[in-house]
Amino acid sequence: MDTTGARSTLVVLFGGQSAEHDVSCVTAAHVLRAADPQKYRTVPIAIDRNGQWHSPQLPQLASGGTDPATLPDHLEATGASSSPSAINALAQSSDVVVMPLIHGPLGEDGTVQGLLELLDLPYVGSGVLASAVAMDKGVAKTVFAQSGIPQVRHITLREDAVSPSSLESVALEIGLPMFVKPANMGSSVGVTKAHNFEELQQAARHAAEYDEWLVFEEAVVAREIEVAVIGNRLPRASVAGEITPGNEFYDYEDKYVTDSAALTIPATLTAAQSDEVRALAIRAYEALHCEGMARVDFFFEENGRGFLCNEINTIPGFTPISMYPKMWAASGLEYSALIDELVMHARERYARRKRNTQH
Ligand SMILES: Nc1ncnc2c1ncn2[C@@H]1O[C@H](COP(=O)(O)OP(=O)(O)O)[C@@H](O)[C@H]1O
Ligand SMILES: [Mg+2]
Repeated sequence: MDTTGARSTLVVLFGGQSAEHDVSCVTAAHVLRAADPQKYRTVPIAIDRNGQWHSPQLPQLASGGTDPATLPDHLEATGASSSPSAINALAQSSDVVVMPLIHGPLGEDGTVQGLLELLDLPYVGSGVLASAVAMDKGVAKTVFAQSGIPQVRHITLREDAVSPSSLESVALEIGLPMFVKPANMGSSVGVTKAHNFEELQQAARHAAEYDEWLVFEEAVVAREIEVAVIGNRLPRASVAGEITPGNEFYDYEDKYVTDSAALTIPATLTAAQSDEVRALAIRAYEALHCEGMARVDFFFEENGRGFLCNEINTIPGFTPISMYPKMWAASGLEYSALIDELVMHARERYARRKRNTQH
């Protein structure tokens, strides 16, 4: 029996069909463990690799007598089969907040957010527009350019416009080596550094396996600096962090297999550099209309153009060893307080938008 009365229901939506499925499962286990049981009744809902929805059976959660120590480190996205509408049943209970923690396409790209809007549920993080724009590296760059956010030179092409002659022009304009990326992806999947024309053609074919839109970027020699941002109308920036890739670049293997990248928090920057990158992170966040949370990633060309915005992740990695929570911890906001604050922003956004739709 729930004796606390005032607890709200926190639905943790995790798993998903992207390459970051496993990361999301680890994240969910940690969020469920860290959410204060005095404040929340937690409900995990998983999407498996095939897109099937499940309600994992966690007896210790269902009974309400949660002992965080008994939770597994890594949830499995399996269990009693349900459907997206299962989440709708929860909408009937009052004071529900959903925390969508699914990375990549069909999770971070506005699709899940659209479903939650239709179900009239408050949820953590950005809405449909910001999620979709941030997920699309090509469109995000267009919006950044319009907002005067510095970034690397780039060209976006649809796959049917890719030909030996268009690639010749891209190579002339951008120069080699260059990075080729599918516009909508994550985890460095489909990203290749092309050193010559032959590799450029292969890289374009490879990226086109993941998305019909391709982004070609000059390869910069730069440090990689990240900033965590939180909030709605008045977003705040964390201290900056730095990633030093273990491989030639911060690729999938480096992120999830060998774990060889070094993280430095706070990043070694002067006070002025740190102020600059944190202010830029907020500008980039606002340019894309982000809300709730996002991690803003930069290249830092120390002896050149300075900070160049690479991308915004609206559902950043959220395990305790991920950059987003670590940068907040280093800024004085611990993991479970971070969850509380994100839930608060989800409620604020929901209530504000409710006012706008009630005419
Ligand atoms: N233009 C670039 N110049 C230099 N390195 C890059 C460039 N673009 C990407 N990289 C490297 O590749 C990694 C993955 O690229 P990124 O655009 O961040 O894709 P993802 O969304 O998959 O994280 C970056 O962290 C960085 O190490
Ligand atoms: Mg990245």
